[in-house]
Amino acid sequence: MVLNNARATVQFSAQIITFLSIILMLKACGGSSNHTPAPTFTTKATLGESLYSDINLSLNRTQSCATCHNPEHAFIDDRLDGNGQISAVSTGDDGSSLGDRNSPTAGYASFSPNFHFGSRQRLSVPQNNDYNGAIGGQFFDGREADLKGQAGGPPTNPIEMGMPDKASVVERLKENTDYVNSFKHLYGNTIFDNVDNAYAAMAESIGEFEKLPEFSPFDSKYDRFLKGEYTYDPLSKATAGKALFFSQFTNCATCHQLQPVNHSEEIFTSFEYHNIGTPVNLKARLLNGKPADFVDNGLLDNPQVTAQSEKGKIKTPTLRNVAVTEPYMHNGVFRDLKTVVEFYDHFHPNSTHTINPETGVAWRAPEVVDTVNRAELEKGRSLSDNDIEALVCFMRTLTDARYEALIQKKGIECDM
Ligand code: HEC
Ligand code: HEC
Repeated sequence: MVLNNARATVQFSAQIITFLSIILMLKACGGSSNHTPAPTFTTKATLGESLYSDINLSLNRTQSCATCHNPEHAFIDDRLDGNGQISAVSTGDDGSSLGDRNSPTAGYASFSPNFHFGSRQRLSVPQNNDYNGAIGGQFFDGREADLKGQAGGPPTNPIEMGMPDKASVVERLKENTDYVNSFKHLYGNTIFDNVDNAYAAMAESIGEFEKLPEFSPFDSKYDRFLKGEYTYDPLSKATAGKALFFSQFTNCATCHQLQPVNHSEEIFTSFEYHNIGTPVNLKARLLNGKPADFVDNGLLDNPQVTAQSEKGKIKTPTLRNVAVTEPYMHNGVFRDLKTVVEFYDHFHPNSTHTINPETGVAWRAPEVVDTVNRAELEKGRSLSDNDIEALVCFMRTLTDARYEALIQKKGIECDM
């Protein structure tokens, strides 16, 4: 009896083991149809990574976030225009609509604080006044507070990804079982019951992806210098430019410095809003069909802003990767970094840089005249051609390691 019982137990155990192995094998192979399959994307950021470059979120399935913010090119739109140059404004998914603003880099965008009104103590020398006003947010006018708000914009923007509404975007998400499973895993099984919730989850995931170090590697020569891995040749133009940039001889740091000097996460923008007198991009306006009297109101386009004093102010952009993100300014009106610095210099009363080197004629009037921050722009001494080359060479050292090969010399040798 005892022996028989023991044998029975052994047989029974063997059967259980076989049964368990079969279950395990089934699970490993993806499981039976009764089980929710394992999600493909187990974090919001990896889900966001896939969404970021998914062209199915645009009406004709031709473009994604990556089209206008290409990870291979410092997260800008590097598609070429008819002249073989990186286009100033982006073409939408319909293949013809053109925007009016240059696609800014999405790199380091996660460091912009949520849009708010406040004051900040400037860290530049000499002791500059504190700033009081709008700070941060996303877009040139800060109209979205943060990245997840921003990411909800392009899919349904008629001149960008062109989807008719949120519901149609969510339908596109549901075409993809990897998304369906992953959204349910990350946001709960009922996430698709409500269009707004599903859409917000998509935008949040994309925003989480944009917060990854891939977007902000802090590995430019400037960062390597801070870590003791790169030495600025003391006699190089970049060294002179670095000193100038942070000195009282220029006003650059007033607006393009966030942190105390030598901080490891300097973003090279204060996220303050200023009108620096950028002229209209006439070529872009000719192509995009804006009426002749159209004005880019900048910060005043932000629904939270009503004061006319804010008209034409633009969120100060980061200078990280600026040597590879031509053309420049919110409307892409300037091609060359050197032009930008000469433009700054022309505000100095005795400047020799009275001609726009790209057009060969005098600088055109600001798009919005009344609010130009002349007080800040006239600060500092007027810049020589050597100073200007030095500043350009310094800005080239703000290029992330993987984009260094994209820097074009444009007639300036930096001896680095
Ligand atoms: C057709 C081109 C185009 C597409 C597609 C596009 N963007 Fe943009 N993006 C722009 C332009 C142009 C701006 C600036 C618009 C403005 O300020 O009004 C911008 C602004 C941004 C900004 C703000 C950066 C800053 O410093 O303020 C972020 C972040 C961004 N886009 C991410 C995305 C994401 C994420 C997607 C996909 C969901 C996307 N973009 C799709 C052209 C595009
Ligand atoms: C009063 C604040 C202020 C000062 C001072 C200032 N900047 Fe700017 N800078 C801005 C703003 C705002 C923009 C965006 C203007 C626009 O798009 O119309 C900008 C744009 C730029 C751009 C173009 C970036 C891009 O991606 O398009 C460069 C380069 C630049 N600044 C470098 C400098 C340098 C170098 C100095 C010093 C000589 C300087 N800035 C001084 C606020 C300032």
